[in-house]
Amino acid sequence: MTDPYRALGNGYADVRRPDPRIAAQVQAALGNAASVVNVGAGTGSYEPDDRRVVAVEPSATMLLQRPPGSAPAVQAFAEHLPFATGRFDVALAVLTVHHWRDPQAGLAELRRVAGRQVVFTWDCEVMARYWLTAGYLPEIAERERTLYTVDGIVDALSRNGRRVEVQAVEVPWDCSDGFLAAYWRRPDRYLDAGVRAGMSGVAALPDSVVRPAIARLTDDLATGTWHERHRDLLECETLDVGYRLVVAT
Ligand SMILES: C[S@@+](CC[C@H](N)C(=O)[O-])C[C@H]1O[C@@H](n2cnc3c(N)ncnc32)[C@H](O)[C@@H]1O
Repeated sequence: MTDPYRALGNGYADVRRPDPRIAAQVQAALGNAASVVNVGAGTGSYEPDDRRVVAVEPSATMLLQRPPGSAPAVQAFAEHLPFATGRFDVALAVLTVHHWRDPQAGLAELRRVAGRQVVFTWDCEVMARYWLTAGYLPEIAERERTLYTVDGIVDALSRNGRRVEVQAVEVPWDCSDGFLAAYWRRPDRYLDAGVRAGMSGVAALPDSVVRPAIARLTDDLATGTWHERHRDLLECETLDVGYRLVVAT
């Protein structure tokens, strides 16, 4: 099996640690589910430890980083889940759908194997207004518009009259999960190449795009320009940067 996350997955567990406040929102969305399949599970972030969980993950690089004692994992792709129809109460997918080769097929599989679905994703139009994307790396938003995001997921999960709710996932200022907009109040963290390597939206761009953008951010931080422009953010505890939880029942 080819490893879809071989390059991106190196060192993932060091920079992408699940945030407890986001985990609580995911837990609440799982409701009273006794069994959960976590598809595109990676290193196991946001997997509950108080229910029966099976993880599905195609990347050996990611599987090897699952901590000892985490839920059993099956090496497979979302598009072909090796489970019987209706086997689980909930199918969970966290920050993964945009990586699937065929999101429609993967989402149909989530519907087939579980009665409910909980998908953590983002709204790229909201994300496009985030200061990093709007002011430094608009190429991220341009690329993300070509990916499968929240509207497509809602559409795929709402077939046959199913109820779909979209919840905003606000990002705490000290979020421990280093996804793209985690550092909205800690801009200097983006200067660290190791931190940027854990963000697929940045890692997908050529160095010739990222280097000058980060040089500009470095200057703006050194001169105080960034702080002048974004002073209001420094007073916020959480921010809606576009992350969304799609809950289908
Ligand atoms: C950004 S990581 C998210 C991992 C984990 N859910 C988390 O929140 O930390 C994206 C994951 O999707 C996985 N992935 C890529 N293509 C996939 C596919 N077709 N089916 C299932 N998972 C896939 C990658 O291997 C990677 O582990």
